[in-house]
Amino acid sequence: MYEMFDKTNHEYIEKARHIAETYLRPVAAELDREQTYPWEIIKRLQEAELMGVWIPKEYGGHDAGILNLCLVVEELSKVCGGVGVAFAVNALGSFPIILGGSEEQKKKYLPEIAQGRKLIAFGLSETDAGSDAGSLQTRAELDGDEYIINGAKKWNTNGGAAELYTIYASTRPDRGTRGISAIIVEKGTEGFEIGRLEDKMGIRAANVAELYFKDCRVPVENRLGLEGKGFGNAMMTLDRARPGVAAQAVGLAQGALDLAVKRAKVSQFGREPLAHQQAAQFKLADMATELEAARQLVYTTARALDAGVKNVGKHSAMCKLMATEVAMKITTAAIDFYEEWGMLTSEPIEKFMRDAKITQIYEGTNQVQRLVVARWLLKEYSA
Ligand code: CAA
Repeated sequence: MYEMFDKTNHEYIEKARHIAETYLRPVAAELDREQTYPWEIIKRLQEAELMGVWIPKEYGGHDAGILNLCLVVEELSKVCGGVGVAFAVNALGSFPIILGGSEEQKKKYLPEIAQGRKLIAFGLSETDAGSDAGSLQTRAELDGDEYIINGAKKWNTNGGAAELYTIYASTRPDRGTRGISAIIVEKGTEGFEIGRLEDKMGIRAANVAELYFKDCRVPVENRLGLEGKGFGNAMMTLDRARPGVAAQAVGLAQGALDLAVKRAKVSQFGREPLAHQQAAQFKLADMATELEAARQLVYTTARALDAGVKNVGKHSAMCKLMATEVAMKITTAAIDFYEEWGMLTSEPIEKFMRDAKITQIYEGTNQVQRLVVARWLLKEYSA
């Protein structure tokens, strides 16, 4: 299927694969073990001009779209899902600007993101507003030409590493989701603090931090789009970003499948290789088939988004749901090919399963994805 890509797709795949295999593979286990942010790899991605794949040309990017973004994420995630998301979150954080920012805001922020001079994160979730994002409690109160922000954000990927944060706060608490606005906050702004970094089961190479806002003043011109239009901006952003998580899941499932196939061909404990048994062959065939189906749904959704097809939210949720469920299944099954060795952290296989579990949780749990798909279905069939 590799032949189905065009020249540009191949270029992105090759660039990302080179970085993943040459620089990431030798350090992936250490980044995971030590929970170290992958600055060296980010630097390589910057040098290879991969930080602006999805950003329009007029703002310093490549305008190469979501499919190419997904291809880069997939290649990185074949080696380390944590690095895949540390890269992909820059798309999640910058889509709100691309979708809702003024010309001035786009000129101000996007070129430095595209060049990799600044990383950007996305702050929507809160302790009591994860799946029900609309019930967020962070407030942004207007005071002259400034907002005073108070509240806290939770589970912020790239928190601390990023210089820029697109956050969502209620500017009109009486209006529910129609009172939420998207606001850019820069690291170093007085009253904005990065809290502790979470100690996580997987995706350990990427930071996940708490963000605190205490009487944090930002200029009104940091608001993206109209006051009260932030929730729609966040939802449209997630529609565009979820294929990235799905691509991450496809990548790490491929990484695990590759290891399982290699392992199956090796003779263990003096026995003939597992690959000689039909039961093992059938298992590998099912894993590969399900993975390919998930991959094609991700690519189709990404291509639809790039083509400007409207209402892709259902497919975006479907591809995130399917790819991450398949990744969980494949990474778990891949461990079985390692038999007793599969439980050892010294083997590269168990990390894929820990990373896969998190793809089922973030950027909307898979229960949220099912809710989104079901809502579309019920709407479509009500006609
Ligand atoms: N596109 C545009 N607008 C949308 C939309 C979409 N896809 N979905 C909803 N909206 C609009 C609606 O039209 C509605 O607008 P009006 O009030 O003007 O009519 C408004 O948003 C509210 O819509 P709903 O009533 O449907 O909203 P809800 O409160 O029922 O939301 C939900 C339901 C879909 C579950 C939503 O809360 C949701 O997506 N939750 C999950 C959040 C999430 O994915 N968080 C992950 C954050 S990122 C992350 O994990 C971290 C990371 O760093 C990797």
